[in-house]
Amino acid sequence: MDIPKGRRMNRLDELRSKIDRLRQESQAALDRCQSLKDCESVRVKYLGRKGAVTTLLGELTGFGSEERPQAGRLLNELKQQIEARLEAKRRELAAREVERKLQEERIDISLPGRPARLGHAHVLTQTLYEIYKIFAQMGFEVYQTREVETDEYNFQLLGIPPDHPAREMQSTFYTTQPGVILRTHTSPGQIRVMRERCPEPIRVILPGKCYRYEQITPRSEIQFYQVEGLAVGHHITMSDLKGVLTEFARQMFGPDTSVKLRGSYFPFTEPSVELDIRCILCGGQGCRVCKDTGWLEILGAGMVHPVVLRNGGYDPERYSGFAFGMGPERIAMLKHRIEDIRLFLGNDLRFLEQFG
Ligand code: PHE
Repeated sequence: MDIPKGRRMNRLDELRSKIDRLRQESQAALDRCQSLKDCESVRVKYLGRKGAVTTLLGELTGFGSEERPQAGRLLNELKQQIEARLEAKRRELAAREVERKLQEERIDISLPGRPARLGHAHVLTQTLYEIYKIFAQMGFEVYQTREVETDEYNFQLLGIPPDHPAREMQSTFYTTQPGVILRTHTSPGQIRVMRERCPEPIRVILPGKCYRYEQITPRSEIQFYQVEGLAVGHHITMSDLKGVLTEFARQMFGPDTSVKLRGSYFPFTEPSVELDIRCILCGGQGCRVCKDTGWLEILGAGMVHPVVLRNGGYDPERYSGFAFGMGPERIAMLKHRIEDIRLFLGNDLRFLEQFG
């Protein structure tokens, strides 16, 4: 501030010029502030206990009573101005800091993420699903029954009494509970469905695990799957069985697959057959897989034995039915040319990942 010429500077003028200097100086200091810490130094320098403004305020007592109120007012104005500017600067810096962080920590949400590695169903599960689908199209529903069975359901009700030689066909895992065994096939499910549904007609497939106490070889495991099929109704014949199985074979192995029913024996079907398909590897020429016969056996089947129908609650005079049982492992082995059944449960990723 200009000091009027020709007049001695009185104390108030002196104060005014100090205030002017402090105002400019503090403004310049604030302009240089880069951080909240810098602001704090400015505050201490001017408004702190030993700060320039505070010191001047302390010197107010040296003014005469006429000048003191005005000097006080001037100093207070300065103090408030510096406080206000400090506050403005702090806000500006804080906002700048937020902005900087936002820029620095910015996430580009348009960048593609790291792909999650997806697994896939086990080759046997895939085969089972395919089997379900084919039979679903022909009106068969999936019906699951127990893996732990009784001797009665697994054998006796299927026409295999305790000392029947057919028991030799299926070596059994027994439990410590008398009469309780691991099912050796899915056929006991036939009795269970019949007893539940009688007298309704039936068209079901019964998939699930079975167990046999046998040597483990490339062709047989002690645990394996079966898919049983059962149809019961008033006019079911062998032609229905043949039609259903032919359709299945063609959908599973290709439309040109030829099939052949060959007479066989099961205690719970009469007559009994086995279904062969023309060897899908050599086309019938003869090879290692079909043992030079040109044919591959894929399942057992037959017309439900009258005794079994009766055990299920159906009058064999009025009802008839067909049943079949297949091994999905065998189906998968033929389809994918897998040469060792043990691979299915071997948990070797190099094998499993081939079926993704
Ligand atoms: N249960 C028989 C087996 O395990 C297969 C089969 C099922 C045969 C239904 C005929 C009818 O060998």
